[in-house]
Amino acid sequence: MSLHKKQEKKITTHVLFEMKKRAEKISMLTAYDYSMARVVDKAGIDVILVGDSASNVMAGHETTLPITLDQMIYHASSVVRGVARALVVVDLPFGSYQGNSKEALVSAIRIMKESGAHAIKLEGGEEVLESIKRILTAGVPVMGHLGLTPQSIYKFGTYAVRATKNQEAEKLIADSKLLEEAGCFAIVLEKIPAKLAQRVAENLHIPVIGIGAGAGVDGQVLVVHDMLGITNEFSPRFLRRYADLFETIQGAVQNYIADVKASNFPNKKEQY
Ligand code: KIV
Repeated sequence: MSLHKKQEKKITTHVLFEMKKRAEKISMLTAYDYSMARVVDKAGIDVILVGDSASNVMAGHETTLPITLDQMIYHASSVVRGVARALVVVDLPFGSYQGNSKEALVSAIRIMKESGAHAIKLEGGEEVLESIKRILTAGVPVMGHLGLTPQSIYKFGTYAVRATKNQEAEKLIADSKLLEEAGCFAIVLEKIPAKLAQRVAENLHIPVIGIGAGAGVDGQVLVVHDMLGITNEFSPRFLRRYADLFETIQGAVQNYIADVKASNFPNKKEQY
């Protein structure tokens, strides 16, 4: 009998690249805490994103801008403790990498060292290229993010679909090439026309993961609280709900309250 435990194959950036080559779709979801990460990982997800959407769904902020590097590291280290197989990617938060590639490198290294995550993600194209290149020099895998980049919401002024006009679409195509050439291992495309996203995916060797970018890309990502129906007031067209946990949890809590009020909980078997 072998003394070595049979280990499940871990997802690496190389595995994702191979998946694209054999046209196997990549599944990705967000998680921000140990318990959710454990469930999502055990379900067999390929990539877990510790997204700065934690600022919205965990902290209740209107945008992703307020979340700090320390807070991202806290979420990421909790997620890493719950994961055995998935690749864990962590968002660099707003203000931790733009316009200063040295600070970008320090931020990325802090995330990798203090959380144990496997890669970082950041938003933007040519404007953040220097930061991407510097982070890559330290051997930290970088995922890009183009299209609707929520950290730029005050520049856009709206969460509407991006790159519907020629000029922005051409810039997005050029940026995706720059990111691939710089050495990014994958790119997220958020809320852009499906045809454009497919064109980008076909142009690149690295995997392209879409959110609101149609089916012609190499994988899909959703915010886990959205697809589970916990954030039940957020209903963009691209979102498919796989559960209605807001209702389920609310119902369970109401049953608990009713049992407590009626002295039905605890019963004889539930006490010492
Ligand atoms: O922060 C996040 O959840 C994201 C996804 C929407 C891709 O960046």
